[in-house]
Amino acid sequence: MKVVKFGIIGCGLMGREFASAVARWCHLPEMDVKPEIVAVCDTNAKLLEWYTGNFPSIKQVTDNYKELLANDKVEAVYIAVPHNLHAEFYCAAIVAGKHLLGEKPFGIDQKDNEIISECIRKHPDVFVRCSSESPFFPAMQRIGQMIEEKAFGAILEVNSGFLHSSDMDFSKPVNWKRMLKFNGEYGCMGDLGMHACHMPFRAGWIPKNVRAILSNVVEQRPDGKGGMASCETWDNATLFCETVEAGTDREFPMTIKTQRIAPGHKNTWYLEVLGTKTSARWSSKQINTLEILEYTGGQQAWQVIDMGHEMAYKSITGGIFEAGFSDSILQMWAGFLHELHHGKPISLFAGCVTVDEVALSHTLFTAALESQKTTSTVGLAE
Ligand SMILES: NC(=O)c1ccc[n+]([C@@H]2O[C@H](COP(=O)([O-])OP(=O)(O)OC[C@H]3O[C@@H](n4cnc5c(N)ncnc54)[C@H](O)[C@@H]3O)[C@@H](O)[C@H]2O)c1
Repeated sequence: MKVVKFGIIGCGLMGREFASAVARWCHLPEMDVKPEIVAVCDTNAKLLEWYTGNFPSIKQVTDNYKELLANDKVEAVYIAVPHNLHAEFYCAAIVAGKHLLGEKPFGIDQKDNEIISECIRKHPDVFVRCSSESPFFPAMQRIGQMIEEKAFGAILEVNSGFLHSSDMDFSKPVNWKRMLKFNGEYGCMGDLGMHACHMPFRAGWIPKNVRAILSNVVEQRPDGKGGMASCETWDNATLFCETVEAGTDREFPMTIKTQRIAPGHKNTWYLEVLGTKTSARWSSKQINTLEILEYTGGQQAWQVIDMGHEMAYKSITGGIFEAGFSDSILQMWAGFLHELHHGKPISLFAGCVTVDEVALSHTLFTAALESQKTTSTVGLAE
């Protein structure tokens, strides 16, 4: 078993998810590579007690990311910090020769994303991917197989989205994810957009242009100290894209929706693909249910399929049992480590977001901002 020694920089919500996936690696009986956490870094020392209490493999604890990157025992890093720090931290990790899984949006804006991409180009020996666990749910994997098998015929329409209600409560205090300085001008697109783009981009469905409608529903929130703070980021975004199937001249409409204020949705991923031969739709609201309509002439009927535990990377969980969020995180990490070790993911839809895919998301979100500003359809530069 190949062991990859990891450092974590940013030990908040997502840092803990990674650590928990590492603790449960034995869930994946066919992996021939595994992560080991040897170093952690966060400026909030209190968070680090959970790590040191649960992972005796940790030998370095620091509040300075440069110290962690200078540790030659660390071979790879997971960086999960606010968006304003992505460019600085990711580039420093790449220059230090550490393989990197970085959190989305991979740069607070397109300029920062280009700085990271340029740094990656200069260090081709470092393996870099962006995090997004959305394709790793069983129904998404099945839709991915159907895309590979060209089961849909000509694509008529695609609708992909990620809907939250995390901001429905207007009295919820502001945090960094609601502030321009830390989260960036993209707002909800920077937070949620890569997840909604991952499957379409991997499928080769490339937006040619976008008409975006963005809403800032809540302009002020409690600052947590008795006053109010401005809450400047976009809460909801709907992107209408004219899209082309890569390698063809076939065009179809695609919507990408990312919302923080979506009534009735706690944390809903969804994908709907409508085609001339087959259509499919899935929502994480009914995580185990995939709907498929195969049209062979005559009556049309949606089949409702129970998915069970059909994971990309084999899991010890019995095939009848449903999957959840932490399973998709574990699978995403399996995807990262498998690709790091073997040079490619086990299948097209079992890999993390590539540097080109995340760059395309920046092109799309930047065009979306322009579209909102000019109330017009904006083309995506090649
Ligand atoms: N893949 C997903 O499903 C998912 C979900 C949520 C967030 N994210 C992404 O993960 C990243 C982090 O989000 P989060 O929800 O974990 O946020 P968080 O606020 O819970 O964690 C961020 C951590 O970074 C630490 N930090 C800030 N400045 C630092 C510095 N200078 N040095 C070291 N540590 C520092 C903070 O103390 C905090 O613990 C963001 O890019 C976000 O978009 C991804």
